Amino acid sequence: MKKILFIIPLFIFLHAEGYSQSILIKPKQVLDVRTGEIIIGAGILVEDGFITKVSKNIPALDGYEVISLPETTILPGLMDSHVHLTGNTDLKGYEGISESSYLAAIYGVKNAKQTLMAGFTTVRNVGAANYADVALRDAIDQKAIIGPTLLVSGPPLGITGGHCDSNILPAEYENKAQGVADGPWEIRKKVRENRKYGADLIKYCATGGVMSKNTNLNNRQYTLEEMRAIVDEAHTHGMKVAAHAHGLEGIRMAIDAGVDSVEHSSLIDQDTIRHAIAKGVFLSMDIYVSDYILGEGAKNGIPEYALKKERTVGRKQRENFKMAVETRAKMVFGTDAGIYPHGKNARQFKYMVQWGMTPIQAIQAATINTAELFGLANVGEIKESYEADIIGVKGDPIKDITSLERVHFIMKEGQIIK
Ligand code: ARG
Repeated sequence: MKKILFIIPLFIFLHAEGYSQSILIKPKQVLDVRTGEIIIGAGILVEDGFITKVSKNIPALDGYEVISLPETTILPGLMDSHVHLTGNTDLKGYEGISESSYLAAIYGVKNAKQTLMAGFTTVRNVGAANYADVALRDAIDQKAIIGPTLLVSGPPLGITGGHCDSNILPAEYENKAQGVADGPWEIRKKVRENRKYGADLIKYCATGGVMSKNTNLNNRQYTLEEMRAIVDEAHTHGMKVAAHAHGLEGIRMAIDAGVDSVEHSSLIDQDTIRHAIAKGVFLSMDIYVSDYILGEGAKNGIPEYALKKERTVGRKQRENFKMAVETRAKMVFGTDAGIYPHGKNARQFKYMVQWGMTPIQAIQAATINTAELFGLANVGEIKESYEADIIGVKGDPIKDITSLERVHFIMKEGQIIK
């Protein structure tokens, strides 16, 4: 008798874990993000975490869970190429340096969940001390916590005193960021180290930045020789390279060096946009964050030296975004979430449409384009054999892009999150 009692709960447990879970999603319509076509009445069959059929006639089958969403437009899970998940977003300036990477990782758990709950199923984390981002990625992969699929960079590479260094303490503290490396060989070693400890990609700083003390947006950081060393070493190990760059010279040199994406790209010009297109380089332009920094930054502790720099760059970045759209640059959705609260990433869509993209172009930037940049072959579309990363919004995102700020259905790898 005792033996039987033991066996039954075990059986129930295995069954409930559902290794072969099958779900039929029946929405109002599905958005094909590649063509922009709306397919009314299509159903999506999800088996073992993958999309196995997208069709108007999927027969009702036994043993399938049916999810009926009669007012919903279904589209692929969104992606963001530029977030900072680790750390407490409330800490700004000097406060930030007192946070341990353990605490940063714990905040990362909360931030990752908020990001997923907003419909972002894959994001790239570009810069974290002590590989807190690697731990976060692994915890999500191992299903210890929920969050988007993460691609992570570990500590970003940068010159001594540059935007990717830590410059707020005086010399006697001997404080420097972990990714600081000067000269080709130090750089190559740092890339190797980041790979060794689990980074998926390399991020480096090619110019000064807004949030860093004592750096200039227009000044290039690193020489061409150094940038080439980063790219060569990273590409040798199959890692993509993302270059932070606001000023034109740094943007141009990063493209020359062969990076995969230029982050911010704020002061790019027409000629350099064409250069990026010719070299197949993606531009990731975070055109929402300026409103947050200038609107709410001061009361949220963003230091005056950062506000001052932001005032010189936000508007120009938007104008250059428009020029990049008109020049048909390869563009990805990247927000810099972390400067503002996580889970608000989708606010940027409205700005992308205001500044020249059609709604479908903005959606493509956050789906098929990001998938291409990330080197992921089976995400970013609602398509057979793709991972079941699926979101739903009420209404039609092509007619109202802000509907993406109100995602009400979320599935990640076949698991219903919301
Ligand atoms: N992390 C970036 C930096 O500090 C933020 C730039 C935000 N401003 C902007 N206009 N995109 O440089």
